[in-house]
Amino acid sequence: MDALSNDVAEVLISQERLCERIHELGRQISADYAERAPALICVLKGGYLFLADLTRALSIRHSVDFMAISSYGRSTQSSGVVRILKDLDADISGKDVLVVEDIIDTGRTLSYLIENLRSRGPNSLRICTLLSKPARREIELHVDYVGFEIPDEFVVGYGLDFAEAYRNLPYIGILKPEVYQRD
Ligand code: IMP
Ligand code: MG
Repeated sequence: MDALSNDVAEVLISQERLCERIHELGRQISADYAERAPALICVLKGGYLFLADLTRALSIRHSVDFMAISSYGRSTQSSGVVRILKDLDADISGKDVLVVEDIIDTGRTLSYLIENLRSRGPNSLRICTLLSKPARREIELHVDYVGFEIPDEFVVGYGLDFAEAYRNLPYIGILKPEVYQRD
């Protein structure tokens, strides 16, 4: 056992289940966007592995672009303060935009982002998230594609971090509370 996986209390979603579900999402999105070429917008940093696998599960033409917005820093609580750290390279007006997120927790980050993107005049705007914690939602959001609904636990791995660590774990794991209660 390496040091990173020692901090994981439980594997919530295995690598195999992630792979299976992402291929299902890929088939569904390919069917829904047939004849269109959606612009996939990855929300950095957490969404990078999900985007990489989702894009390879799509059979349709599409583009990818990246946006970075401020997250929790070292804390596990949402500050409610959202800042754009990196904006899109391309103009999305008239495009069919699909936002690719790692996780929706309170919904604060994404609702800010969606309003911002909507003001740029896309033809359509949908959300695809790998994970959702419905019990924690503070702002109502319509989410078009959800990989997994998960309980109210702090999870890491497959792109998700705590203090920038654990993103490389190939599964979604529940972080031991003593790890984030340390500081
Ligand atoms: P929201 O604004 O509360 O919906 O927070 C969304 C962001 O918080 C996500 O994009 C993640 O960066 C982070 N986040 C929320 N829950 C978790 C978690 O369980 N593990 C890791 N990051 C999380
Ligand atoms: Mg995120």
